[in-house]
Amino acid sequence: MKLLVTGGAGFIGSNFVHHILRTYPDYEVITLDALTYAGNLENLKAWEGDTRHRFVKGNITDRALVDGLVAECDAVVHFAAESHVDRSILDPGIFIETNIVGTQALLDAAKKHTKRFHHVSTDEVFGSLGPDEAPFSEKTLYDPRSPYSASKAGADHLVRAYFHTYGLPVTISNCSNNYGPYLFPEKLISLAITHILEGKKVPVYGDGLNVRDWLYVGDHCLAIDAILHNGRIGETYCIGGDGERENIWIIKKILEILGKTEAEIEHVKDRPGHDRRYAIDHSKITRELGWQPTVTIDEGLARTVKWYQDNQVWWQDIKSGAYQEYYEEQYIKR
Ligand code: NAD
Ligand code: TYD
Repeated sequence: MKLLVTGGAGFIGSNFVHHILRTYPDYEVITLDALTYAGNLENLKAWEGDTRHRFVKGNITDRALVDGLVAECDAVVHFAAESHVDRSILDPGIFIETNIVGTQALLDAAKKHTKRFHHVSTDEVFGSLGPDEAPFSEKTLYDPRSPYSASKAGADHLVRAYFHTYGLPVTISNCSNNYGPYLFPEKLISLAITHILEGKKVPVYGDGLNVRDWLYVGDHCLAIDAILHNGRIGETYCIGGDGERENIWIIKKILEILGKTEAEIEHVKDRPGHDRRYAIDHSKITRELGWQPTVTIDEGLARTVKWYQDNQVWWQDIKSGAYQEYYEEQYIKR
């Protein structure tokens, strides 16, 4: 099988490329990635010179490019996106362009060449849960509340529309927060680890009691693999880690692993429209495809901290580039 993986130089996409090429020796992968601030060829350097992997630098909105690549492959696994909520608050336009317009360009190519299409989405399309509300499931109504989640919701609707209208063989996954190797150091867990390693304080938005359902990225890759190969066409699968934790719990656990105290925590102004709680009921994918998370949050955090300790050049290069500009703007504009 030959896969077109969009966004394969980013966090989850690169973990997925590694997973596929290591698990299936007869598979080939073309990675299409625009190498935005979040894309990094270092993430894929293990496959340099390997004939089973080809990297193409390009934008998913480039219809001519996308058409040719989709025609060459058996299936598309679509990760490419603007993925960070805080950036979507600062500048929503590029989220519409990439996440909605880009997805439509890929769908048109998949439709023209009748290719299998898996769309990687987020649980954030479902909105925010109260403390006692049941977790999100495939039956939950969409209620996105940030420009990021609204753009992902738009893309999900388009993917489903191409299934119902044109019979395109699609699947969709809505996954909770991922963490693990190659997580760009603007997201909570990677930002906290790298800030602590740099001797900086960890910024906690608001009261720190917002809840996320954390999933180790390797488990997400296994779930997408299961859906790609055995998922029912036209269906959506919710993926979660059974890892609901308050942000402050996560930060304290990272401090504990690194032998630091709570003096390293700094409460900062809250994110506008900050969703309070996400949680996922993953019983459908467990029942139908036998998938369930295998890495506990304690084990996953220990592995992730170790990865950032062992790969300091990777994140120091990122943090010494344009990152600083974004980071300052982030706090000045709030
Ligand atoms: P990421 O920001 O780390 O990577 C995104 C990748 O897409 C980057 O390599 C970037 O260069 C590329 N890209 C961006 N715009 C592009 C364009 N126009 N054309 C081609 N490539 C482009 O994101 P991630 O965290 O790996 O997320 C991957 C996917 O998973 C996204 O669709 C995201 O919505 C979804 N998702 C993420 C999480 C999470 O916790 N990170 C959870 C659920 C779903
Ligand atoms: P994030 O990793 O940005 O993921 P998402 O917004 O998609 O859930 O944030 C996870 C949680 O951590 C969210 O509640 C916001 C909070 N947060 C902080 O408290 N401090 C930070 O520096 C960051 C980046 C996030």
